[in-house]
Amino acid sequence: PKLEYLLTETRGRVAIVTLHRPKALNALCSELFYELNQVMKDYDNNKDIGAIVLTGSERAFAAGADIKQMKDRHFIENYTEDFLGHWTQITKVRKPIIAAVNGFALGGGCELAMMCDIIYAGDKAVFGQPEIKLGTIPGAGGTQRLVKAVGKSKAMEICLTGSVNLSAEEAERAGLVSRVFPADVLVDEAVKTAEKIANLSLPIVEMVKDSINTSFETPLSAGLNFERRLFQATFASQDQKEGMAAFAEKRKANFVHN
Ligand code: HXC
Repeated sequence: PKLEYLLTETRGRVAIVTLHRPKALNALCSELFYELNQVMKDYDNNKDIGAIVLTGSERAFAAGADIKQMKDRHFIENYTEDFLGHWTQITKVRKPIIAAVNGFALGGGCELAMMCDIIYAGDKAVFGQPEIKLGTIPGAGGTQRLVKAVGKSKAMEICLTGSVNLSAEEAERAGLVSRVFPADVLVDEAVKTAEKIANLSLPIVEMVKDSINTSFETPLSAGLNFERRLFQATFASQDQKEGMAAFAEKRKANFVHN
């Protein structure tokens, strides 16, 4: 089906998904998010894809949920329809997603980036949670994932003022972002990292993602048990045999994603 709000392309085993609603700085209307969920799910189920890069335009990754679309909604319809509950679907994707953020990542845009596994930023990127200025609060992780990324004081400052934003450099220093690149090479750099990951064993890559995400949901001892059990399980894969044999034989491993 034709996509209205996204551009997609593949480079080898990497899929690139570009938010494309230029007239509204990629404001995340419901339809855009439904398309995004579908595309991500399709790539997740596509055996030829090993990692996904999610990006926007140079001016905006996304300026948030679509304010004009939601402004007249009421609580009961929000509740009964679980308004924006479908945003969490992207966190169920098993393959790694790298967010390549140029320009504004505000409100739901910042939250969308934080649902990804790695965030790279262009040097002009701006991260913030301005919801409080609209009389509402972050609704998709701004008061939860952001705390875990940058700590309490910064998260409080960002969410309580709505106007203290993080520059790319500040976001990197705070740990929200792992690297900053000049805006024009950002997507290529994200694709390079995605390629590196996509050429490793996919099931093992998925176990790493699963295990790291488990650390956010469990006490340490349960997380360590989960990790050790998965580590043990890797020995049931062909790729563990290949990876270790290749090391012993001083050659490059040829993973078969099995
Ligand atoms: C709808 C938006 C929008 C948004 C921008 N636009 N952000 N439309 N929802 N979130 C539209 C503008 O209305 C305008 O359309 C066009 O995009 C260009 O934006 P400008 O404001 O003219 O650009 P600029 O002056 O450069 O300012 C950029 C900006 C500003 C600082 C990013 O657009 C802005 O403050 N946007 C809102 C940011 C925000 O509050 N986000 C949080 C949303 S709430 P027209 O038609 O006028 O040209 C949220 C809740 C998440 O995200 C909950 C998740 C569950």
